[in-house]
Amino acid sequence: MPLDITAFIDGTPRDAAPALEQRNPADLDEVVTRLPESGAGFVAEAAAAARAALPALAPIEARADALERVGGALAAEVADLAALITRETGKTITDAAGEVMRASRLFRFFSGEGLRIVGERFDSVRPGVTVEVAYEPVGVVGAITPWNFPIAIPAWKIAPAIAFGNAVVWKPSEHATATAAAIMRIIAGAGLQAGAVNLVPGAGETGAALVEDTAIDAISFTGSETTGRGVRMAAATRGARVQAEMGGVNGLVILADADLDLATETLVNGAFFAAGQRCTATSRVIVDESVADALIERVKARVARLKVGDPADKATEVGPLVSAKQKAGVVAGIEAMRRAGRQAVVAGRADAPACFVDPVLFDRASPGDLVAREEVFGPVAGLIRVAGYDEALAVLNDVRFGLCAGICTTSLKYAEHFKRNARVGMVMINLPTAGVDYHAPFGGMKASSYGAREQGRAAREFFTVTKTVYQRP
Ligand code: UN1
Repeated sequence: MPLDITAFIDGTPRDAAPALEQRNPADLDEVVTRLPESGAGFVAEAAAAARAALPALAPIEARADALERVGGALAAEVADLAALITRETGKTITDAAGEVMRASRLFRFFSGEGLRIVGERFDSVRPGVTVEVAYEPVGVVGAITPWNFPIAIPAWKIAPAIAFGNAVVWKPSEHATATAAAIMRIIAGAGLQAGAVNLVPGAGETGAALVEDTAIDAISFTGSETTGRGVRMAAATRGARVQAEMGGVNGLVILADADLDLATETLVNGAFFAAGQRCTATSRVIVDESVADALIERVKARVARLKVGDPADKATEVGPLVSAKQKAGVVAGIEAMRRAGRQAVVAGRADAPACFVDPVLFDRASPGDLVAREEVFGPVAGLIRVAGYDEALAVLNDVRFGLCAGICTTSLKYAEHFKRNARVGMVMINLPTAGVDYHAPFGGMKASSYGAREQGRAAREFFTVTKTVYQRP
C-alpha cells in the first residue's frame, strides 16, 4: 500500500488530493508514496504559521534540548528510517543507515551550536559610546531539499535554522517525502512550538511558490544548477536572502607518484558509489598518462568485484538511480559519449532492469566532453589523460563548476600546491571527492554554490542577521 503523504502546517496534518507519486527505484511496480502538490495556498499558510511561531519559539536551552531529542530519536530509529530511505530512493541500506546517523549527529552538533552564539561589545570611536554586535534570527526560512541525501541535507538546514531561532517552511523533493514525513513526526514529538517547522510536499510548483512568497525571509536550496539558478534569481529579485548548493563536475587528479591501489578505491568510491548521485561525485578522472593503463586495469578488476544490485542487501555497494526519468537522462549521457567516439573501458549491462545503471568509465575523454562539462548525475566518469601535474591542474580548473576536487599523490609538494590552487570549495587529498564531515563547512566556488556556506560553525552566517547597536549612556 502506498503511503499517503500530507502537508503538515502549524502542528496539524493537512490533507489534499494526491498529485504525484514515487515508485521504488528497485521495483517500479511498487508505488511507495502518493503526495499532493501543496502549491501557493499551503505555502502561504505554512509561512504564516512559521511567522506566528517566531515570538513563541522555545527559549535557547529548550531549543537545544529539542534538537538533542531529535538527534536521539533518529539514532534510535536508524534501522526503520534506513529501510524507508532505501525503499523510497534506492539508496543502499548501508549508505542509508550511515546517513541517518549523520543526520542524528547534525542535530546534536547544532543543539550545542545554538548555545555557543555570542555577540560582541566594544568601545565606539566616540567617547562614552559603546557598540554591541548581536546575531538575531533571520526569521522564516524556506528549505528546499533534494532526494539524494533525503535526511542529512534536511538536517543540515533545519537544525541550524532552529538552533539560531528561526522557523521553517520545508519543501522536500517529491522523490523523498516518506522520509520527510518521518522526520516531521520526530520533530513534532521533540517539544518545539507548533509551526516551528512546517512541511509542504510537492514538486516545482510548490518550490516556486515558496521562493516567491514574500513572507519567507530566506531560502536555503540544494539541487540542480538549473533550478538553483532560478531560485537565486527569484529570491534575489524580491530581496530574500538565499543560499544555493548546486552541481559539480568534480575532478580527481591521479599523479604518476600516486599509490595506485588507493587511487583505484578513491576513484571507484567517488565516481560510482551512491550510483554517482552526489553533487560531490567524481565525473572527471584526470590521470598522468604514464600510469593511466595500470590504473584502468585496477579499476576494471575492482568494478568486476563491485556489488551492484538490491539496495536492501547490506553487501550491495551500488544501487539504482532514484527514478526512471533520472535513468533516462543518465543513459542519454552515456549514449552521447559513445556517439562522440569515447570508448568505455568499464561498462556493465546495457539493459539493466528498473532504475539500475551499471558503472561506466570512458577512456581518453576530452575536457569538452559532456561528462566533463555537465553534471550527468549517474555512475559515469570520463578519464582524461594528461602529461604531468601542471596540465592536470589546468584541466581541473577549466570548468564552470567548483564544488570539490581530489588529488591522489605521495608528493607533499604537489599536495600543497593543489590545495591552494584548485578553484573549488572543498579539496580532498588521497580521499574520494564525495563524503564530507558533518561539522565542517560545506560549499563550492563558481557555478556550484551561491551565498553563505552550510554546516559547521559557518552555518551561523546564513541563519542569523547581524545587528549593530550604538549606545550613549
Ligand atoms: C557528501 O558527499 O558527503 O547533494 C555530501 C549533494 C551534496 C552533499 C554531498 N550537497 O550531493
